[in-house]
Amino acid sequence: MMDFTAVPAAPDHVEYLDAAAATAAGRGYKRRFLEALDVRPGQVVLDVGCGPGTDLVRLSGAVGEAGSVVGVDRDPAMVEHARRRASGHRNVEVRRGDVHALPCADACADRVRTDRVLQHVEDPARAVAELRRVLRPGGLAGMAELDWDTLAVDDSDVETSRAVSRFMAGRVRNAVVGRQLPRLAAAAGLAVFDVDASVVVFRDFGTADQVLGLRRNVIRAVQAGVLGQRAAEDWAHRTVSGPFLATLTLFTVVAGV
Ligand SMILES: C[S@@+](CC[C@H](N)C(=O)[O-])C[C@H]1O[C@@H](n2cnc3c(N)ncnc32)[C@H](O)[C@@H]1O
Repeated sequence: MMDFTAVPAAPDHVEYLDAAAATAAGRGYKRRFLEALDVRPGQVVLDVGCGPGTDLVRLSGAVGEAGSVVGVDRDPAMVEHARRRASGHRNVEVRRGDVHALPCADACADRVRTDRVLQHVEDPARAVAELRRVLRPGGLAGMAELDWDTLAVDDSDVETSRAVSRFMAGRVRNAVVGRQLPRLAAAAGLAVFDVDASVVVFRDFGTADQVLGLRRNVIRAVQAGVLGQRAAEDWAHRTVSGPFLATLTLFTVVAGV
């Protein structure tokens, strides 16, 4: 039985990001995203919105000793975590900064990437223009973003599933930025080389709840008057106990100058 009087606390942000990256879906798309970015030894790579340094060590290995990796994040706690995590890697530096005004010179990078960052920013168009500014001629920008309007959770009560998905998408600042990436890249003067859409599949409620915060959001939706408590309780009971399926589309775009 769910307690609809209080929203469960959101998980610690770093634990949450680590858990999401460790899921099969997280590992899979991150590997494919890195391959698509074609990072080579000796290159300079910017990881903008690097979080707790989720991908810095892997990028450090890809550029090797002759290359360098710069992680940038606007959250000081993330910067601190990322610095600690990458401390044994001399080719990694972490800077505090904002994607709308990167603390980096024009044309300083061979590769620049954002991984689920643009969904949170104030102005995705300006952010992508900044990615373009820091790229050297011949450089590549990689962007990976979810499209929250594609969240589909299977249940016999399709209307409640739709309401849950719509409510969750409504809580994300740029919920459909994934599908907008090619347009944003073109508007920033980047040539779009590759567009990939993959479907993240969740087959157990626990993982989906951990990554998507299903339980928390259903309670919020009831509190907001978007869902009736009885329908939400029944929906939650079935999705927790039954065979579970939820899907969400992730877009990755590689563009360059
Ligand atoms: C969902 S996390 C992704 C972290 C990491 N890229 C990963 O894959 O684990 C989004 C990150 O973007 C950062 N972020 C959000 N808005 C930003 C901005 N305007 N400039 C720089 N970083 C930002 C957040 O602080 C957070 O660390």
